Amino acid sequence: PGPAIAVVIGSLRKASFNRRLATALMRIGPAEFTFTEAPIGALPLYNQDEEATPTPALSQFRAQIRAAQGVLFVTPEYNRSIPGVLKNAIDQGSRPAGQSVWGGKPAGIVGTSPGAAGSAMAQQHLRNVLAMLNVAVLPSPEVFLQFKEGLIAEDGSIADERTAKFLQGWMDRYAAWVRRFAA
Ligand code: FNR
Repeated sequence: PGPAIAVVIGSLRKASFNRRLATALMRIGPAEFTFTEAPIGALPLYNQDEEATPTPALSQFRAQIRAAQGVLFVTPEYNRSIPGVLKNAIDQGSRPAGQSVWGGKPAGIVGTSPGAAGSAMAQQHLRNVLAMLNVAVLPSPEVFLQFKEGLIAEDGSIADERTAKFLQGWMDRYAAWVRRFAA
């Protein structure tokens, strides 16, 4: 079997544009890759007192990331950074000390926003966080996608030809990046 990719989406809302972007990318990935969302909405707020007693949702999240050969982060920008729910998930996966599930994984970061900067600042913050966790983030190309009404449908189909090409190009580079680490 090909690489298993854990997809971490930084928005919890049902109609999330970032969820649509994630769905679009999962559709255009290489056939031998398996993309599965690693849901973060049911994770408890990180509390060091509870490290020894993880909830089932947390244990499942940690196991999924640990087993994955790559991670794909798809994140909105909240107040010029990543959403708290995403930071919480990353923190949860990083502890207990010495048992982080993130270390050494290849990863990709993409995101979209209705704003012109297309979540760029959140993505830069996320790179900083992941560097601390020894996650190997694809350096470039970058996807700072301005979301426009109708650009990506709920089923992940991309209405605009140029955007479809751009995202396919990114996916090809991401897949090559993951394969390098698998080899
Ligand atoms: C936002 N939004 C936003 N957009 C942006 O480009 N830069 C920002 O700093 C912020 N800040 C921000 C804070 C908070 C608390 C919210 C709720 C929203 C707008 C944001 O991009 C928009 O709501 C997107 O639709 C969120 O992504 P999803 O949920 O559609 O994936």
